[in-house]
Amino acid sequence: MNNAVDTSLFAPSGPGGGNEAILEVRDLCVGFPSDDGILHAVDNVSFDLRANETMGIVGESGSGKSVTSMAILGLLPKYAKITGSVKFRGEEILGVRDKDLTAIRGAKIAMVFQDALTSLNPVFRVGDQIAEAVSVHRKCDRKELRERSLELLELVGIPNPVARLEQFPHEYSGGMRQRAMIAMAIANEPDILIADEPTTALDVTIQAQVLDVLERIRDRTSSSIMLITHDLGVVAGVADRVLVMYAGRQVEMATVDDLFYRGLHPYAQGLLASLPRLDRRGDSGQLSRIHGQPPSLVFLPPGCAFNPRCPHAQPGVCDQNVPLLREVERDHFSSCIRAEELVAKGSES
Ligand SMILES: Nc1ncnc2c1ncn2[C@@H]1O[C@H](COP(=O)(O)OP(=O)(O)OP(=O)(O)O)[C@@H](O)[C@H]1O
Ligand SMILES: [Mg+2]
Repeated sequence: MNNAVDTSLFAPSGPGGGNEAILEVRDLCVGFPSDDGILHAVDNVSFDLRANETMGIVGESGSGKSVTSMAILGLLPKYAKITGSVKFRGEEILGVRDKDLTAIRGAKIAMVFQDALTSLNPVFRVGDQIAEAVSVHRKCDRKELRERSLELLELVGIPNPVARLEQFPHEYSGGMRQRAMIAMAIANEPDILIADEPTTALDVTIQAQVLDVLERIRDRTSSSIMLITHDLGVVAGVADRVLVMYAGRQVEMATVDDLFYRGLHPYAQGLLASLPRLDRRGDSGQLSRIHGQPPSLVFLPPGCAFNPRCPHAQPGVCDQNVPLLREVERDHFSSCIRAEELVAKGSES
């Protein structure tokens, strides 16, 4: 597809930047062959993850969030067609041999998987599983392993960690298991932690605690976090910047404040409008919804993939070329070709 982004736009000198990019993703495309043709799961995605920031990746189910992170970590199946570039601290990691990636995966870039609650092995004690994660990348004796495991359980806020080390996963609550998974992921103080829907299966109070843990980790270990979620409410509290994906493409990228107060892309605006807000209670009692369904990733509509659902779509304009993500305002990117026009309209009304 021809949706290339002007990558010079991501130079880390812009506002909110000044921070070196430790991960540079450029023109990332992932296609999966299917009976009907290629399924374009990720289509020309480019972004920087800056040092010590939390970047939220948001989009509805099937928008390509997990595939993006799996591509970064080289975890996609062989039949996936992957192109583009992913640089970690300036070094290309896309397409490098598994053997060479092992040193980076886990140690430098760690991931908490979407199905974390089932990722713990039920037959081993949690303490042993954490110790195992520590020992994969560094040599230490039993005493050091135990101390490090304790320290990690404390860091993720598990109460009474000495006793908890001896327990099995089924003795942990859902939130505690999720925290144990985070403890394992950060065992080697990775530079980047990718957390894929780390709070989805949890109730609201526990969600908040897990998000607190992520924030604490970022502050204590100076790592960067990529937080993947379909829930804009989750990124509002913890992310510095947000990338919004739709049908495998990026449609908006901005600081969290810019996105929430001046969302530029109609899809992002639709997502924001469907967030429950205390100050709007009593309005109509009804949340705004984005009408229609996301498109098939095999048969994408021509032009902007959102145009069939977009309240601002103009026939003959939005259904022509795939729009490029571009900097509409400082450090605020949108792929909507009508972005400026819609901003002007918005400020008139
Ligand atoms: N291994 C695979 N083989 C074929 N298609 C895949 C594979 N993995 C993902 N896909 C497809 O790629 C698209 C993007 O999937 P992805 O898992 O990235 O979505 P997501 O944004 O993470 O959604 P969710 O919020 O539901 O987790 C989907 O259409 C999915 O069916
Ligand atoms: Mg996913």
